Amino acid sequence: MLSFPFAKINLGLHITGKRADHYHNLDTLFFPVRFLHDALELVDADQYSITTYNSPESISPERNLVTKAFHLLEADYKIPPVEVHLVKRIPSKAGLGGGSSDAASMLMLLNRYFKLNIPLEKLCDYALQLGSDCPFFLHNQPMYGQGRGEILNPATLQLKGYRLILVSPLRNHKPLEISTADAFAHVIPLRRADSLADIIASTVISDWKDHLKNDFQDSLRTGFPEIDRCIAGLYENGALYASLSGSGSACYGLFDPAVDLHGIKSQTFGVIAQGLL
Ligand code: C5P
Repeated sequence: MLSFPFAKINLGLHITGKRADHYHNLDTLFFPVRFLHDALELVDADQYSITTYNSPESISPERNLVTKAFHLLEADYKIPPVEVHLVKRIPSKAGLGGGSSDAASMLMLLNRYFKLNIPLEKLCDYALQLGSDCPFFLHNQPMYGQGRGEILNPATLQLKGYRLILVSPLRNHKPLEISTADAFAHVIPLRRADSLADIIASTVISDWKDHLKNDFQDSLRTGFPEIDRCIAGLYENGALYASLSGSGSACYGLFDPAVDLHGIKSQTFGVIAQGLL
């Protein structure tokens, strides 16, 4: 059985407070990006194994969130071993949710393949044990995320027809890598009068530049000046709105559908993927 775990971007990301459990409360809009996805396949087997293809970094099978998802369900349900094949296209340490999406897909695949009938609410509990943004990937639509990212509410925002480009800021010609834990460790939480839903409801996309903020952009500026340069490069190429995704390092630009992004060039970024929403 095969599935295609998709990537996400964050449209705005407010860090609103630090919690007693050392996580942060946030307010964000998770937006699915279907033209960038991994591939995850389950095959019957005598013992559990996972083979990862096209992954520049070698994560041990035990540390892979897909394996952790298997063991989570195996502890509570009688499921036989499987052989897993994971083809990576979503870059890691990019803020695009690749590992979390793979793990959420694994939970859903196991649920379907072995007819476990686990309800969505319970799958969300398992997903949260694997990562804060993992529950979002169990949903098939844009969702506002609060709390650690697990308090999810459907968003009605439509970006159909807009063109999206995902890029990596470059350092020494290589994509920048930012650890989520490090990014959170340096961010300064800020309470806001307006929720992100209020801001999105009251502004048009061409005004987002002045209203829709990812708080990590301020805290990462000193250590990673490449991010501001990358976003400026997207605006120079005609983006209506450009931002960092999650805790980075990937950035994205939203463009008018008529803009031809094939062959887009900048010294400040490398292209990950682009497509129509
Ligand atoms: O939940 P996840 O494992 O993806 O988080 C990685 C790290 O990012 C956490 O250990 C924590 O340091 C930080 N984090 C946070 N607040 C969140 C999500 C993540 O502080 N809402």
